[in-house]
Amino acid sequence: MAASSPIILGIESSCDDTSAAVSLGKKILSNVISSQKIHEQYGGVVPELASRAHQSNIVPVVHAALQDAGMSVSDLDAIACTFGPGLLGSLLVGASFGKSLSQSLDIPLIDVHHMKAHVLAHLIDDGNPVPEFPFLCLTVSGGHTQIVLVQSPYDMEVIGETLDDAVGEAFDKTAKMLGLPYPGGPLIDKLAQDGNENAFAFSIPKIEGLNYSFSGIKTQVLYFLRQQKELDDRFIEKRMNDIAASVQKVLIDFLVQKLVRASRETGINEIAIAGGVSANSALRKQLREDANKHGWNIYVPDFQYCTDNAGMIAIAGYFDFKRNRNAGLSLAPRARFK
Ligand code: KG4
Ligand code: ZN
Repeated sequence: MAASSPIILGIESSCDDTSAAVSLGKKILSNVISSQKIHEQYGGVVPELASRAHQSNIVPVVHAALQDAGMSVSDLDAIACTFGPGLLGSLLVGASFGKSLSQSLDIPLIDVHHMKAHVLAHLIDDGNPVPEFPFLCLTVSGGHTQIVLVQSPYDMEVIGETLDDAVGEAFDKTAKMLGLPYPGGPLIDKLAQDGNENAFAFSIPKIEGLNYSFSGIKTQVLYFLRQQKELDDRFIEKRMNDIAASVQKVLIDFLVQKLVRASRETGINEIAIAGGVSANSALRKQLREDANKHGWNIYVPDFQYCTDNAGMIAIAGYFDFKRNRNAGLSLAPRARFK
């Protein structure tokens, strides 16, 4: 295959989704995602169970991705795997599988940074408009909340980030307080659609610069619910929609407040969002409003490329393949990068 349109197998296993995708150049031919249901009952991802589920899922998921793409392993030019950040036991499953397959096929193995891949999902050639460089990307997931200044696929700088919890975690922990299963983000989104976002007021923390902090909001919600339950033990049940909408509002307002500031400080009006929380309908709506107000061009990935997926890993692999990157046999995945 010509180097301009390599065929790459992407593998993602950093958290609770086992995913494999096949790309041809910047197009994604298949993107198979197996989400692990086992964690629902525990209110969060249980690392040990996640690793085991990846081990069971990885072979069938890779098979399905190749089959959907109409390819066999002999067509592959490279394998791209998430090497972090993420849960170490989970990362080891995908990275070890990728390493072995790349060895047996004698093709390069490309190590991919999960958060950079969330950003690079915007460069997938799927017919959607692609942001122009430089652009700002608000990357919001269960583990991260960052504002990234993207100069090129190879040059990204984190200019703001959370000092504690990620915004996805704030969604998930709020859901847990409301008695909802994990992951609660999508459920809060759904409940909020029938709620009044001004029913209860939570305040945006004052954090310096372009950084965030979500642990204070979580505490506000906890104390508020505790207080209200003392007055009426059926409070949560009765006001579920309003609570979801009000908490969602403060989280989204905070995200957008810093994004507006980042745009003003950098003079960049190309604004993208990425990561699981970018699937949130209130965030998307608020961004559309701010785009009108501030003259932004906004970019929101196709839903399947928002939450964890291997399509974004394959596209990240595409850019590194063009620079002849090869992870080599001794490279090991890492849970953290600083
Ligand atoms: O990027 P992602 O799939 O995995 C990580 O890398 O963490 O993000 C998962 C996070 C979870 O916290 C989940 O609750 C949140 O994204 N999420 C949402 C929505 N869909 C997923 N949060 C709010 N609204 C949604 N619609
Ligand atoms: Zn992610």
